Amino acid sequence: MRFENKTAIITGGASGIGRAAALRFAHEGAQVVIGDLNVDGGRATAGLIEEQGGSALFAEINVSDSKQMKELISVTVETFGKLDILFNNAGIGNPNVKSVDLAEEEWDQIIDINLKGVFLGIKYAVPEMKKTGGGAIINTSSLLGIKGQKYLAAYNASKAGIILLTKNAALEYGRDGIRVNAIAPGVIDTKIIDGWKNDERKWPIISRANALGRIGTPEEVADAVLFLASDEASFITGATLSVDGGGLTF
Ligand SMILES: NC(=O)c1ccc[n+]([C@@H]2O[C@H](COP(=O)([O-])OP(=O)(O)OC[C@H]3O[C@@H](n4cnc5c(N)ncnc54)[C@H](O)[C@@H]3O)[C@@H](O)[C@H]2O)c1
Repeated sequence: MRFENKTAIITGGASGIGRAAALRFAHEGAQVVIGDLNVDGGRATAGLIEEQGGSALFAEINVSDSKQMKELISVTVETFGKLDILFNNAGIGNPNVKSVDLAEEEWDQIIDINLKGVFLGIKYAVPEMKKTGGGAIINTSSLLGIKGQKYLAAYNASKAGIILLTKNAALEYGRDGIRVNAIAPGVIDTKIIDGWKNDERKWPIISRANALGRIGTPEEVADAVLFLASDEASFITGATLSVDGGGLTF
């Protein structure tokens, strides 16, 4: 078990990629704390972990709220004694509109959750990780943090920002034993893409737009996250790992 005696926080753990990662971390021995806005989903993930015989805690939090993120880290340390892994994964999509039609409030909300949420996670997790000599942080960027896509201005910008924020934190805290990496998933079968599935014209194209010709599963992304969090990735920091079926090959 790669994560025995480790404590991992997973934001956005109520569904999709976050839930798959929470279940896998727990399966490999970690004590898991799930932070999410979605109370039913968050409790359900914690329940699934406990059914497997694991240890889990759910906290209702909004990642863009500084106080709540700080509290998430403190509750984790109070409950499990330390923090080893932070998976900064919560995120939302973008209304499918041109930039000029994107409301300023929508821009702010996407940047606050997707980008500031990651910053707050780093801000409050690092001091705790320093106390125990290190840790691993994994941030969820996207293929769309590397590649531009029309009508997704705020999402593109937020996910691109995460890649540089990841490099920045890797540089600042590498000598404290903290590794910081990002993942860049392609199209993955979760709730966030439900809207795309209803587009009869575009979905057949979107769902096959990579080298493998299919979409990915949350579990396939979770496996990459666990690798980056594990000692097997001990010399990897500041990297962005594409988990996209070869979506960047053309
Ligand atoms: N599914 C994809 O195709 C895909 C591709 C690239 C990147 N991503 C990224 O993966 C991450 C996980 O998304 P997913 O695909 O599993 O979708 P999802 O909708 O199933 O999961 C997102 C989770 O984040 C939570 N969340 C949203 N806003 C929050 C907030 N303010 N505070 C706390 N929790 C909040 C939601 O409640 C949900 O549980 C996101 O950052 C998303 O942008 C997804």
